Amino acid sequence: MVVSCWSVKGGSGTTVVAAALALVLARRHDAGTLVVDLAGDLSAALGVPDPPGPGVARWAEARGDLPADALGRLESPVADGLSLLHRGEGGALVTEAGELLSALLAMDDRRVVVDCGTLGPDDGHVSGSIPVAAGAEVSLLVTRPCYLALRRAVAAPVTPTGIVLVDEPGRALDRTDVESVLGAPVVAELRLDPGVARAVDAGLLASRLPRQLSRALQGAA
Ligand SMILES: Nc1ncnc2c1ncn2[C@@H]1O[C@H](COP(=O)(O)OP(=O)(O)OP(=O)(O)O)[C@@H](O)[C@H]1O
Ligand SMILES: [Mg+2]
Repeated sequence: MVVSCWSVKGGSGTTVVAAALALVLARRHDAGTLVVDLAGDLSAALGVPDPPGPGVARWAEARGDLPADALGRLESPVADGLSLLHRGEGGALVTEAGELLSALLAMDDRRVVVDCGTLGPDDGHVSGSIPVAAGAEVSLLVTRPCYLALRRAVAAPVTPTGIVLVDEPGRALDRTDVESVLGAPVVAELRLDPGVARAVDAGLLASRLPRQLSRALQGAA
């Protein structure tokens, strides 16, 4: 199963959600979980060193000139049951439509979580991530309950199957407003929690996932 996490505004919490969800799924599923970084921050968010060597960006540049198992060879271990496919060096991640998605869908019984970064009509988005964000069985928009974000989400190139709401105290809009504007269910609601930000800053997400994050994401995929 492939789960994509994406946003329409920078700094929404997408990378933290992708990392935490991958850790939650890795604990739950014996077949293992792969987390794929199309945006560039995942190893830092997980608190692991950037893996050396080429990553998915170089794989995309080489297109079909590589053997079928080439993508699998770029993975590195992160935690029990969890591997990382890092973005690595390379320019814009441009793939044939669906090529990367097909490779990820072919990953046997494993759960695959992809950080697709920010998608939007006028962002310098990673174009290869749009087919992945759109074609994943579970496509999660990570957003604040914010009018400006919702305006962008309505015009986004992808329709989510679910929404991860990163909530802040005092917002006028709530989950019902978000669901009715976007026509998709809120599958997880996270509070903005200084403890989460501190865990990320200290590089402790993979080793000590904050309980509120793992609880909130249990039903997301
Ligand atoms: N639930 C949370 N509570 C508190 N802080 C959070 C939470 N989620 C994310 N953050 C913090 O917010 C900042 C942005 O998070 P993150 O990098 O996940 O967002 P992003 O949408 O991936 O951003 P970018 O657009 O740069 O890719 C980070 O400093 C992170 O630690
Ligand atoms: Mg990010």
